[in-house]
Amino acid sequence: MAMIRRNRILRVSPAIRAMVAETILTPGDFIAPLFVTEGENVKEEISSMPGYFRYSLDLTVKEAKELWGLGIKSVLLFVKAPDSVKDNKGTEAVNPNGLMQRSIRAIKDAIPDMVVMTDVALDPYSSYGHDGIVEGTQIVNDPTVEVLARMSLSHAQAGADFVAPSDMMDGRILAIRNILEENGFVNTGIMAYSAKYASCFYGPFRDALDSAPGFGDKKTYQMDYANSREAIKETMMDIEEGADIVMVKPAMAYMDIISILKQRVTVPVSAYHVSGEYSMIKAAAERGWLDENKAILESLTGLKRAGADLIATYFAKDAVKLLNK
Ligand code: PBG
Repeated sequence: MAMIRRNRILRVSPAIRAMVAETILTPGDFIAPLFVTEGENVKEEISSMPGYFRYSLDLTVKEAKELWGLGIKSVLLFVKAPDSVKDNKGTEAVNPNGLMQRSIRAIKDAIPDMVVMTDVALDPYSSYGHDGIVEGTQIVNDPTVEVLARMSLSHAQAGADFVAPSDMMDGRILAIRNILEENGFVNTGIMAYSAKYASCFYGPFRDALDSAPGFGDKKTYQMDYANSREAIKETMMDIEEGADIVMVKPAMAYMDIISILKQRVTVPVSAYHVSGEYSMIKAAAERGWLDENKAILESLTGLKRAGADLIATYFAKDAVKLLNK
């Protein structure tokens, strides 16, 4: 007769469960995205992201200090550019005194050890709301890559530790690595959004930055969610071209991709729990349909269990506070 196996023994008490837990979140797992806007003492709630704000630079620095105090070691910067500076060439993206460049300097000045990462793509600066330069109805690859490389260099010059290209143009990692090398930025890293899917879950983010595409969609450059092998191809190429960290985005509907990449690659894999994933939990919690705190920890632990070494999430601060309880 088969002996009964008492699997439940390992679940008897919180102490036993803690002892055998395979996946433990720590503050160092998180990258906190920050939205910076012009002005002073500005704190604007993003309508489709309740509880998340756009801050002017002074308050962004304050927020970054608070994050650092909680043990969060990295921020990922996005800026909201006013319409008046948007064009189809990325002029403002490479402005050495642009809001992004000023933000990098201010945060590094205030907290030199904070790992400052910066989004590299043209959408916040594009009069068309696209990640690249538009010609007719096309998003043209090679001229865009040239601007993205100069944009990355300007972020490095301002003091960014990592640039994070989120544009999905071909060949941009190599171009960025080359321009950084040529200019002596041998310690500036590249966190590549390697497997970035064309996703409806970016909706609230585009509200936050007022960066929704003015025509069409992003399906000619971001990946088709029907595919997984393509994610491997994109990621392998980014690593060959010089990516130091690769990223999967969004996260929860793409945990298979995180898991596959974790097994295949030897660089850190990061997951971006994106704006729509944040807002879904917020909305359900507001209605009393989900316990927000439990949903946060379960979601983020799941991402780490799937293989994420790092998690970019709007819940970074909430998660750390919950972990410290
Ligand atoms: C810009 C960019 C986007 C996000 C990060 N960088 C939007 C997009 O590609 O349309 C989305 C982040 C989020 O939804 O939280 N290229």
